[in-house]
Amino acid sequence: MQIAILGKGNMGTPLATLLRNAGHLVDSVGRADDPVAAISRAEVVILALKYEQALAILAQPAIKQTLSGKTVIDITNPLSEDFMSLTTGHSTSGAEELARLLPTSAVVKAFNTIFASVLADHAEGTLCRLPVFVAGNDSAAVECVTTLVRGMNLKAIAAGDLTNARYLEPMTEMMIQFGYGLGHGDRIGFSLETAA
Ligand SMILES: NC(=O)c1ccc[n+]([C@@H]2O[C@H](COP(=O)([O-])OP(=O)(O)OC[C@H]3O[C@@H](n4cnc5c(N)ncnc54)[C@H](OP(=O)(O)O)[C@@H]3O)[C@@H](O)[C@H]2O)c1
Repeated sequence: MQIAILGKGNMGTPLATLLRNAGHLVDSVGRADDPVAAISRAEVVILALKYEQALAILAQPAIKQTLSGKTVIDITNPLSEDFMSLTTGHSTSGAEELARLLPTSAVVKAFNTIFASVLADHAEGTLCRLPVFVAGNDSAAVECVTTLVRGMNLKAIAAGDLTNARYLEPMTEMMIQFGYGLGHGDRIGFSLETAA
């Protein structure tokens, strides 16, 4: 599959490695690259940008237009500058706000609860046992993202429709609190366990 990843940072880099290792054709798009050309070629586009950067890029008419009809994976979390709180939530989510800007794209929330360090370890061979929660309203797009996740040797868990991003995003803020505020470090994450 042809995939464009907007952002070559902490998340974009291991995502690109894992997807290439899974046999996909990946365009990694940094600030110096042409996003429209990469998006035009792609079936799936990953927003590996800070939430505000994603809002900014989606405000560009040429980008919005080129994303029309495509599956867009939103990995963002609407974090404050110091990462220690969320700027959006409760009655909406970052994912829903991005989807509002892309009414003719299929936005799917995924990967937002996996620390970049865990993903990078996974790309280097230390297998990640944590699941990727996948939420979205378009069943074909959710299925496509679920298949991509599994192809990266990660477990996918269906997380319902996009409004559930209201709960997936605060999970990540709690993960940041555990990791950085409460001293558990950045090799942690949430899993869904059966109690007994
Ligand atoms: N880091 C984590 O552990 C983690 C975990 C789960 C989810 N997330 C989410 O994933 C997203 C990305 O996080 P990250 O840690 O990878 O951030 P990051 O390292 O800052 O990566 C974002 C990259 O996108 C670039 N960029 C900004 N605007 C761009 C544009 N218009 N075109 C192309 N590239 C552009 C940035 O360049 P500049 O540096 O020049 O701005 C930066 O290299 C965030 O929304 C975050 O909440 C992160």
